[in-house]
Amino acid sequence: MTTLKWWQTALFYQIYPRSFADGNGDGIGDFKGITEKLDYLKDLGIDGLWLSPHFPSPNWDCGYDVSDYCDVAPEYGTLDEFKTFLNEAHARGMKVILDLVLNHTSDEHAWFLESKSSRDNPKADWYVWADTPPNNWQSCFDGEAWTYAPERGQYYYHYFMKQQPDLNWRNPEVKQAMWDAVRFWLDMGVDGYRLDALGTIYEDPALTPHTVPMTMGELRRFSETAQTPEEKALVDKYWFDMFKNQWGGPGLHDLMKELRAVIDEYDGDRMLVGEDDNIDYMGDGDDELHLVFNFPLMRTEKMTPAHIRKNQKERIARLDKLPTRGWACNTLGNHDTSRIYTRYGDGQHDAELARLNAALVLTLRGTPFIYNGEEIGMTDYLITDPAKLRDTMATWYYEHLVGEMGVAPAEAAQRAGDMTRDKNRTPMQWGNSANGGFSPANVEPWLPVNPNYAGGVNVHDQQDNPDSLLNYYRRLVRVRKQTPALVVGEYKPLHEKAEDYFAFLRFTEAQSVLVVLNYSASHQELKFNLPGKKTAHVLFSSSGRGKKDEPLSKVSLGAFEVLVAELR
Ligand code: GLC
Repeated sequence: MTTLKWWQTALFYQIYPRSFADGNGDGIGDFKGITEKLDYLKDLGIDGLWLSPHFPSPNWDCGYDVSDYCDVAPEYGTLDEFKTFLNEAHARGMKVILDLVLNHTSDEHAWFLESKSSRDNPKADWYVWADTPPNNWQSCFDGEAWTYAPERGQYYYHYFMKQQPDLNWRNPEVKQAMWDAVRFWLDMGVDGYRLDALGTIYEDPALTPHTVPMTMGELRRFSETAQTPEEKALVDKYWFDMFKNQWGGPGLHDLMKELRAVIDEYDGDRMLVGEDDNIDYMGDGDDELHLVFNFPLMRTEKMTPAHIRKNQKERIARLDKLPTRGWACNTLGNHDTSRIYTRYGDGQHDAELARLNAALVLTLRGTPFIYNGEEIGMTDYLITDPAKLRDTMATWYYEHLVGEMGVAPAEAAQRAGDMTRDKNRTPMQWGNSANGGFSPANVEPWLPVNPNYAGGVNVHDQQDNPDSLLNYYRRLVRVRKQTPALVVGEYKPLHEKAEDYFAFLRFTEAQSVLVVLNYSASHQELKFNLPGKKTAHVLFSSSGRGKKDEPLSKVSLGAFEVLVAELR
């Protein structure tokens, strides 16, 4: 394992700063809180932390609208508190990567304020300006993609909200300014970056209009009301067609190479992981991004063995083809998606399925990323009062439905509650006390706490319960760390026709490990023909069967069981 880099062997944990831990009791997470929870994370077996944006921001997009790249949002603390956090994480052997939002800044960033002030200021060309909207492009969050700035008498382009103007990355000064910000944190000792929405950095230079016969609001509505397979296929086609000219434009490979060169100026194997599933952005395997997320794995309503096998086959073939072999990176949830427990649950076996999916991410080939709260089984929380929504994309949709589309407020509230990302961003549930122990009882947290904290979905109650999901994660992470084949090993699917269960090998020259995930309520008796191997020595099982040997001619699994066994 010694030849691997830290980011290949690490288990990453995504912290959503606003919701993770409220150290000063004001209803908002902060660095004091995060620092106090580092021992918890260490104990869970975490080696790498990814922080969603912690920079000053007017929070139209919950921090993804950055107004200063070189500071800490006051509600999260001070730069000194950040440094304390970083040192304390490093002291525990944990690396820290930050979120880097390249495509756009906040409309309150000094760069934009200057750029919009006149047509001939020094930053006049730092954003994307036009005299009149040159096409019908849409913002994927709130309607038209071109917004008028009266100060300049011109329109600026924004792929996301109008409070998130796109930077003009064809201007070399923009690059220099952003690389300075990148160096600011690297100089401080930060270990790398997660690159936000990189696909949207460059647009089609010909500004080709889209051909979808709908506005953004209408398409969202159509997505909700589509019933037949034909309608659903049309929805997918329309989403693709509406935005295909607004991302993936020429220039991104060169830009990633430039950024990689900045990162490589530093020692300590600093790294980049892209919020994109396109393996092309890994370049030749050693000159662009170190990792891209395997999002196709999570893009399914139901996690099935067939889906997983197909996904692994495609991804691994692509990674293996890179001149320097690429490293995989798996995740099932983040701050933009419905929580694993809810999304892949069937309403009946949610707890069992959550355990299977945890095991999936922790045993597949590649670096795993888990999202805060996943380890205690946090679920989506539907916010039906529009006044409580903080995700402005949802507020916009609510108002659009009621105001422009004549939808009844009650239905609109339900729709907005369904589509908002607030449901998977609610505060971390630390205990079985008011506010789930996130904030003091007399304080209203920035988003409501999911009341299911009182039913055992909290760290405190799970901490000492050997059967809790939290302890399941801990045990499984420990087995992963103690089993080299699960970290560095190759992947080989077994029983590829099986519909009920997903079986595969992870192996090195020295060790072969069998993993079986029984995604069904039926008991399985399986036979594996593996040359030179006779017994499966159980390393881990979700059914508490304890360590024992099973003959490979008859491996028994209970309903929804997870089995990890070393072959002998
Ligand atoms: C990414 C972030 C998302 C944000 C968007 C715009 O997709 O994950 O939360 O809204 O970029 O920055």
